[in-house]
Amino acid sequence: MNAMSARKILVVDDEKNQREILQLILSGERDDDGAALYDVKTASSGQDALRFFRSESFDLVLTDLKMAGMDGIQLLNELSQIDSSTPVILMTAHGSIDSVKEALRGGAFDYLEKPLDRAKLLEVISQAVSQMRAVDEEIVGASEPMERVKKMIVKVAHSNSTVLIRGESGTGKERVARAIHKASQRVNERFQAVNCAAINENLLESELFGHEKGSFTGAVSEKKGLFEIADKGTLFLDEIGDINVNMQAKLLRALQEKEILRVGGTRPIKVDVRVLAATNRDLESMVKDERFREDLYYRLNVIPINIPPLRQRLKDIELLTDYFLRKHSANAARPIKISPDAKKLIMEYAWPGNVRQLESAIERALLLAEGDEITIEDMPVEIRAASQTEGAGGFKLPPEGISFEDLEKSLILQAMEQTGWNITRSAKLLGLSFRTMQYRLDKFGIKRPARIKGSAEDEDFDENNAEQSDLSSL
Ligand SMILES: Nc1ncnc2c1ncn2[C@@H]1O[C@H](COP(=O)(O)OP(=O)(O)OP(=O)(O)O)[C@@H](O)[C@H]1O
Ligand SMILES: [Mg+2]
Repeated sequence: MNAMSARKILVVDDEKNQREILQLILSGERDDDGAALYDVKTASSGQDALRFFRSESFDLVLTDLKMAGMDGIQLLNELSQIDSSTPVILMTAHGSIDSVKEALRGGAFDYLEKPLDRAKLLEVISQAVSQMRAVDEEIVGASEPMERVKKMIVKVAHSNSTVLIRGESGTGKERVARAIHKASQRVNERFQAVNCAAINENLLESELFGHEKGSFTGAVSEKKGLFEIADKGTLFLDEIGDINVNMQAKLLRALQEKEILRVGGTRPIKVDVRVLAATNRDLESMVKDERFREDLYYRLNVIPINIPPLRQRLKDIELLTDYFLRKHSANAARPIKISPDAKKLIMEYAWPGNVRQLESAIERALLLAEGDEITIEDMPVEIRAASQTEGAGGFKLPPEGISFEDLEKSLILQAMEQTGWNITRSAKLLGLSFRTMQYRLDKFGIKRPARIKGSAEDEDFDENNAEQSDLSSL
């Protein structure tokens, strides 16, 4: 969203006076260029508000608590049935603190005490808006589902609830986690990410919780774990579906008690850490199969955020393409455009590796482009080849000039990108054995690009321990 466009606020109050005052105050707010900051709409009852809410989207709802008919809390519940991502601020008379607590539990964003104080009102709203701005800067996307994800981020940012972020590989799970941190009050503290799948099971405990000196062979000195390191900040547990049952129990304890025990330690250590987690595994069926603790699942899944695959967000493909063009040609003197047929290809491709794959395709195309335009020839071969296939399973011959080897290599690359460079999963995707996959990776000299993060992960990609560590993440 354009930073300059006014934020839409829905004001709900059954008192006419109150509505008018709020309307006046809010629509009077201007930015430095004199443009209105807020676009205010008023509703005189919960019913009215719901009617508006169903037909248009708002950035923020400001509602009175005590209203004839449907009260603020009922409205809050109804609103969240329709769209749980929109932040709701409740206005309540001094003294009804119990209802406020109930409301905050029910998902209200914040509350304001009545009689309203103009400065306080504007402060709470501008705080919400600056959070929206922080999220807009981090998350490129204007499709309807991403608008919802962005609002959800704003809404949950300043709570301490655990958020479980789901989505296919490369959809932006880590990006969303960072956005939550940036929009939160912990922004000036640490954001610590840890890839649970990349760390050997035995080491994960000491990595997360630390260890005391001499607690195991090799523990020559005491060491702080990531929970302690991230104290006051945010800890992002990536690939949470990959931790073993033993660690699941220890993690649950840490989340519940808000304290940790170092390996070999006896003294619990208090930590104040906001935990975010991500996975693209089917945790629900893992719970059913007793491979993932149900209690931990509920503890993590307090707030779920689902990021849809890129192919379901056409509008975002366009925005992200522009964004990556700008990002990766920042140093080039000449502006780079995309030819209409290359653009068509980008819009029609299925992007199995999602945003990550799009970024790498644009990056590669920029390197190949001659002149000031990316043409279809500059696009990665696997994407060009895909445009030649039609309908379900009906492969057509690739365009002239693409050899069988090129095609094979591109399929392998595509599978690796789609699975975030996981050999086992890539092999499965292509119906190959692990060994055949490994053989082909070697044959084509395919290496994980440096921009794919994770030094610990690199170990499972190279050399002899590839099979072992890769399989341990199953
Ligand atoms: N909405 C977005 N706006 C800008 N950049 C994005 C967006 N979504 C993803 N990206 C970029 O795409 C790449 C992949 O995103 P990210 O690492 O967050 O995905 P992921 O879902 O964590 O993937 P994986 O499951 O493989 O770990 C990153 O470089 C990230 O910065
Ligand atoms: Mg990730």
